[in-house]
Amino acid sequence: MKLLVVLLAAVSLCAGEDIPQVPGDNSHYVEGVSRYIWMPDGDEVPHLVDLHEPVDESVLNERNGANNEYWLFTRRNPNSRQVIRRNDVNSIRNSNYNGGRPLMVIVHGWNGNGNSGMNALIRDAYLAVADANVIVVDWRGPANGLYNAAVRAVPNVGQFLGDFLVWLINNGGGNWNNVHLVGFSLGAHVVGNAGRRAGGRASRITGLDPAGPQWGGNGNALRAADGQYVEAIHTDGGFLGIMDPIGRANFYPNGGRNRQPGCSNSNCSHGRAPYLFASSVRTNHFNGRLCNNLNQAQNNQCTGANLRMGNSILNKRGSGLYGLTTGASWPF
Ligand SMILES: *[C@@H]1O[C@H](CO)[C@@H](O)[C@H](O)[C@H]1NC(C)=O
Repeated sequence: MKLLVVLLAAVSLCAGEDIPQVPGDNSHYVEGVSRYIWMPDGDEVPHLVDLHEPVDESVLNERNGANNEYWLFTRRNPNSRQVIRRNDVNSIRNSNYNGGRPLMVIVHGWNGNGNSGMNALIRDAYLAVADANVIVVDWRGPANGLYNAAVRAVPNVGQFLGDFLVWLINNGGGNWNNVHLVGFSLGAHVVGNAGRRAGGRASRITGLDPAGPQWGGNGNALRAADGQYVEAIHTDGGFLGIMDPIGRANFYPNGGRNRQPGCSNSNCSHGRAPYLFASSVRTNHFNGRLCNNLNQAQNNQCTGANLRMGNSILNKRGSGLYGLTTGASWPF
């Protein structure tokens, strides 16, 4: 009997680890080690992801950035999209796109699409403060399905987006100094690749809790040089988000990790980033303080120079690690 117990224990150890049972709770998760993680979809519903699951290469050929859709919203059409198609100049002419106005591009994450709540949250905030073009990118094909396959598709999806933006500005007018790319989770790495493809010309890139699993040390991750100014806002570092300061300026609200105030799990902490950003666009009230190092940021002990987190200011610049405390509910 004793032998059987020992044997069973050994078998379960070899098999890897127990499958976590509480949806959204990633307290078991160790970065780079754990096989399973609960990951929220575009509707903030957590799904269990197997990080060891192999990717079927043929899927990558079918699901790529060629199918990206670009949905334009402006103050003249704040809720109903106008679809702009690359190489179809009439799709620009027949839309409300105005090259003289700022351009914000919003990119969703895993298992999301253009209708995911974070898009409208950020779109509405920006149109409330700026007479602008907002383009919501729908990359639902590659984004939906295996997480590992979505990760692999990110560079290609980003390159298509970068090429689209170059074409849009060349044909519809626009100014790279007025371009702000914003991506959530996997979308943060998509906008990084898009910015790189466009030669780092975009004035701002904002990564909202850039995805962590499979991204540590990944050369396709969002980088500080992908735009003129790249900001990362970390809210679930070490779990669904990445803790590494991959932006030029990196904000670690409330320590940059689970649990964010008012959250009971990592699913909620990760999803907090788009809310903090949307709120910052409306009222620019988050005052970051420069940290000496990551440890100080994680312990929320930063007391150095001020830099606002997020906001809509197109020529914002800065660098370093920043800490701050937020509230537990809107507007945080
Ligand atoms: C996941 O987080 C979202 C908020 O971001 C919340 O609405 C949802 O209820 C959470 N789900 C679970 C199972 O924790």
